[in-house]
Amino acid sequence: MSEKAVAVVTGAYRGLGFETCRQLARLGYAVILTARKPKSGEEAANSLKAEGLDVTFHPLDVTQEDSVTALSDFLVAEYGRLDVLVNNAGIFPDPAPWSADSSILCADLDAIRDGFETNTLGPLRLCQSLIPLMEEKGCIVNVSSGMGQLSEMEGCCPGYRLSKTALNAMTRILAEELKGSGVKINAVCPGWVRTEMGGSEAPLSIEEGIKGILWAATLPADGPSGGFFRHGKPIAW
Ligand SMILES: NC(=O)c1ccc[n+]([C@@H]2O[C@H](COP(=O)([O-])OP(=O)(O)OC[C@H]3O[C@@H](n4cnc5c(N)ncnc54)[C@H](OP(=O)(O)O)[C@@H]3O)[C@@H](O)[C@H]2O)c1
Repeated sequence: MSEKAVAVVTGAYRGLGFETCRQLARLGYAVILTARKPKSGEEAANSLKAEGLDVTFHPLDVTQEDSVTALSDFLVAEYGRLDVLVNNAGIFPDPAPWSADSSILCADLDAIRDGFETNTLGPLRLCQSLIPLMEEKGCIVNVSSGMGQLSEMEGCCPGYRLSKTALNAMTRILAEELKGSGVKINAVCPGWVRTEMGGSEAPLSIEEGIKGILWAATLPADGPSGGFFRHGKPIAW
């Protein structure tokens, strides 16, 4: 069993998730880098191990109940507990923003279902399965998006927007139910970041984008819960 604090990051073989694994490991966490593509996940974890970091790969498809159960069983057997969960895995199920077919009026309902399955129900499945391993303390980060803010809601991209708004609501429901438990859960928008999802035009580097994720993953015992943050500052729902 590890004496170190243990962190799980979903969808972590590239992008924001990968760099979050690297930085959490540098802070001294035993990090479980998860990905649904085993080869990519193994390679990513091995590249961080080669930097001398405590990073272990475990397969995880957040849309599959048995995959989440297998991760939970692995954590119980190898670590006996969990301290940090970063629900990072996400998809952008819509056509390109503001393209002719990105309107909600012609949205493909199956794409919207896919968005919910990965971006909303995935994190919920992980929370249901892994919060019992948190031993009354821990930090959960739901990587959300400004595109899910009701206060700033614009047109287009309904699959992504709806799934992230629902993720935000889920964050608040869980925060209410976890009040007094020592487990904190917050939604974080990383800003617009240059990743495969964010594209090359985004203003922020991955290192800049993960700062707010790291902040929410490493909150002190008296830190906030049930909030929505960007770069460590509260933003409107
Ligand atoms: N980049 C931005 O500007 C931005 C802005 C706001 C919020 N976000 C959020 O930040 C998070 C990370 O995105 P990113 O920008 O780093 O994009 P990314 O490079 O596309 O990373 C997304 C990751 O999620 C994984 N994933 C998708 N479906 C999965 C599933 N069912 N199970 C496990 N993993 C799955 C992807 O792996 P596969 O190759 O297997 O699909 C990929 O590793 C997402 O939640 C995104 O919505 C990003």
